[in-house]
Amino acid sequence: MDKFIINGGTKLSGKVKIDGAKNASLALMPATLLTNGKSILRNTPRLRDVNTMISLLEFFGVETTFTDHTLTLDTSNIKSQNAPYEHVKKMRASVYVLGPLLAKYGRAKVSLPGGCAWGPRPINLHIEGLKKLGAEIELEEGYIIAKAKKLVGAEINFEKSSVGATGNILMAATLAKGTTIINNAAKEPEINNLAQFLNKMGARISGINTSKLIIEGVNELSPATIDTIPDRIEAGTLLIAGAITKGKIELQNCNFEHINILINKLKESGCKLFVNNDLITLDASNIDINPIDISTAVYPGFPTDMQAQWIALMSVAKGVANVTDNIYLDRFNHVPELLRLGASIKMIENTAIITGIKKLKGAKVMSTDLRASASLVLAGLVADGTTEVLRVYHLDRGYQLIDEKLKMLGADIKRVEGTEY
Ligand code: EPZ
Repeated sequence: MDKFIINGGTKLSGKVKIDGAKNASLALMPATLLTNGKSILRNTPRLRDVNTMISLLEFFGVETTFTDHTLTLDTSNIKSQNAPYEHVKKMRASVYVLGPLLAKYGRAKVSLPGGCAWGPRPINLHIEGLKKLGAEIELEEGYIIAKAKKLVGAEINFEKSSVGATGNILMAATLAKGTTIINNAAKEPEINNLAQFLNKMGARISGINTSKLIIEGVNELSPATIDTIPDRIEAGTLLIAGAITKGKIELQNCNFEHINILINKLKESGCKLFVNNDLITLDASNIDINPIDISTAVYPGFPTDMQAQWIALMSVAKGVANVTDNIYLDRFNHVPELLRLGASIKMIENTAIITGIKKLKGAKVMSTDLRASASLVLAGLVADGTTEVLRVYHLDRGYQLIDEKLKMLGADIKRVEGTEY
């Protein structure tokens, strides 16, 4: 398992290009199961999670080619609709295959996803939504066994906004008989990217970018080509890298509208930010970082996927900040590791109270999940001395070579491969 060795203290400067959005790709890829033929997903990031989804789709019989950042998926010869535990346990997003397989083939057998580093992540909204569309669903020996001769449109009211459940039901509804209405649908940009792709395939979805999606079912969909949106969480993470090191950086290939709230919070923390089309420039030279409270919410609120990174920034702010996660109440595995770097953080339920300190001190820290690892890297960039971040395979799930990107911005970071712990 690889680790990063980071020597803190360098002010980042320079330019780096943002890759395609992991959480868009993980929805766009299973959507191709709704068609027969070759679909093309441009700007697909080269990530562990993308490779995990590729191997699951190939298990069904999908033929894939991945050249540079263009992923071609040929769904002409699907042989199986079974997603075994060995695949699904690696990544919760595998459950996204349920809706498309059920809609296209009338059956699906998908292992229940395991928990994840920060606790249970239920899929009741996915199951209830598919049942509303007429699916028969049994849970047997850790598997979801779903059947439906023909899904039938229905009105679905999500009591909680769920990205995954919205994506699954949206995909299933495209081939259902009649009209489906999804109330309290997730409005995350990744869902909008999925809806655009489905419409390019011939689906009839309206209400995109709103919390009420209306889907007129059609008989079949055709392969299509789509541009994956830029990864707003990678962009946010690198902006915080510029802020925490009091540097000056420029990000290319961004969609600033997807991270408006983060840009505003960074401005409140004292950073100067300039936006010009798909370029975002952050200048944090010689600033004192103001302590700014955040509370995560569904889009367009502050994303839970940026909570850990914000805590890292607040650990060197000039004062006390409160960070509350309302989406995942226990997504704080990064806190004990940040304490090892000298941060001063107290937890009260789902709120971290961070008292900023002058200097963090380098230490060995352990990655536990994707965004927790990102926060440890950010802290290491500014900590005195050397920080070793272990088990960085977590980072490779959701960031394409983040060490190389940080090196391009001047960071003193080195990947040491294959170190066993
Ligand atoms: C997506 O996960 C993202 N993953 C997550 O990003 C992100 O943290 C999350 O949305 C929230 O924005 C992908 O898109 C692949 P949810 P998802 O369903 O769809 C509860 C990352 O770091 N819920 O929107 O699984 C759930 O427990 C990853 O890139 C139910 O109760 O999230 C949570 O509290 C981590 N029942 C809330 O809804 C359900 O059936 C939001 O979850 C489904 C969800």
